[in-house]
Amino acid sequence: NGIEHPSNGRTAYHFQPAKNWQNDPNGPMYHNGIYHFFYQYNPREATWGDGKLSWGHSVSGDLVNWAALENALDATAHFDINGCYSGSATVLEGGRPAILYTGMNADMEQVQNVAFAKNPSDPLLREWEKPSCNPVIPIPADVTGNNFRDPTEAWRGRDGLWRVGVGAEVGGLGSILVFRSADFLRWERNAAPLHVSSQQIPELECPDLFPVAEQGTVGLDVSTPSGPGVTHVLKLSDLAREDHYMVGRYDDAAETFLPGEPERGVDCRNWRRFDHGHLYASKSFYDARKKRRVLWAWVDETDGGGVARGWAGLQAFPRAMWLDADGKRLVQWPVEEIETLRRKRVGLERATEVEAGGTKEIAGIVSSQADVEVVFEIPNLEEAETLDPKWLLDTPGLCAEKGASVHGGVGPFGLLVMASGDLEEHTAVFFRVFRHLDTYKVLMCTDLTKSSTKEGVHKTSYGAFLDVDVEKDKFLSLRTLIDHTVVESFGDGGRTCMTARVYPEHVATSSTRLYVFNKGTCTVKVSKLEAWELATAAMNGGASGSVEP
Ligand code: FRU
Repeated sequence: NGIEHPSNGRTAYHFQPAKNWQNDPNGPMYHNGIYHFFYQYNPREATWGDGKLSWGHSVSGDLVNWAALENALDATAHFDINGCYSGSATVLEGGRPAILYTGMNADMEQVQNVAFAKNPSDPLLREWEKPSCNPVIPIPADVTGNNFRDPTEAWRGRDGLWRVGVGAEVGGLGSILVFRSADFLRWERNAAPLHVSSQQIPELECPDLFPVAEQGTVGLDVSTPSGPGVTHVLKLSDLAREDHYMVGRYDDAAETFLPGEPERGVDCRNWRRFDHGHLYASKSFYDARKKRRVLWAWVDETDGGGVARGWAGLQAFPRAMWLDADGKRLVQWPVEEIETLRRKRVGLERATEVEAGGTKEIAGIVSSQADVEVVFEIPNLEEAETLDPKWLLDTPGLCAEKGASVHGGVGPFGLLVMASGDLEEHTAVFFRVFRHLDTYKVLMCTDLTKSSTKEGVHKTSYGAFLDVDVEKDKFLSLRTLIDHTVVESFGDGGRTCMTARVYPEHVATSSTRLYVFNKGTCTVKVSKLEAWELATAAMNGGASGSVEP
């Protein structure tokens, strides 16, 4: 049906520079009516290359449409000549924005540097200056393996001093060190680290510590202290390329973090995950415009094809994030501004049954850039398969073994996205209900085994159990954002998220399709389904895949 899909496969509304490599989100902030987004950027090529990275810089009025500015930071000084690595932005007294970032210095040591907005009254904050007193935090003597990086956004204590957390390997243990400062230039280390991992985790990347309201969806400024109604979240990235978090209490006298679920231990791989798919180095900020916390995260390529396309790496669509009523989980949901891109809508007028083996096409929109919301109703649980307990700790393995093509009892049912007309290629996002002891467990999967006919593409399966009680509540919701090569899914209202990259070949010659399917033996009901075609956002001047009128 005539959609243009340029061979460079660009996305329509996921953040990308016009070309070349990007990785971590850096220093997101809302300042004087404008959203700023910085990111790890290689201005020379579509790989991380020699690591002499810059901070790319874009601005937006709505978190959807972006304009590229000059790089905010380039690797130019002795304290960052081998790379301006990740970090954060903080707005200081009097409204002066500052960046704290890691420099790979002339001796190839990781050090922490500061840069200030040269002209704080420039609404675009185009120029940044690095004072000559950098590095402001040299590598401490007890840091091993040259692992000392990724300063958090700074928060201000009740004593008026600033604090920053920095990832560090101390004696072989991944740690988060806290430094204090009155002027953002002279920093003093706190004796106690904020967090120390187990021996299995010598390095931690991109830490963050932020407050969340115990109730409701409102976001909080990073300096809001823990107290009645306010708790904290410690976020860590581990080298296996997964992002984890723990809700807990930040003790601002001792400068320590007390985990709310201590039984999960200090190894963050046993903590909760932001996303069970492919997403890394996330960072959130407080959006004072809409009083919410917004999460950014890097979504890397999984086909090694970046160089051929001339670009590599996406950012997940910005997600509003708040604490779930259970006080333990974060809920994530695409920021509502995505609705400004919604164009043509298709849906089901009334609840529709999808019987065993059934497939139903959702036609009428260009489904390569779409936003789909669906609610399934499970009529009965009698047919649920029994769960082999060996899968309890290996949900991706279970999704691989029982993929979308493997018949089940209650499920698999869900969506087939980025599908070719003959279904040779498709990405399945689905649920499957298991009986376990005297209760039920709901598995959510993204099955990439059929996502592309191309060789050399990562075609794994992602999976997680939802924290739902299907005996009480027979409705299961799923929202999926589809954007050419990325599929971001939000199960159970955003309590379980799963992001995947896909590289279907059929899009070069034909349009892509969207289906609801059910491969279980029991009928499921689609009680609600709405799908919108999304317009192409302005994206840093790059040529995007676009929808023809
Ligand atoms: C995470 C990371 C950070 C580092 C940056 C360098 O992806 O390795 O620890 O600052 O990327 O680009």
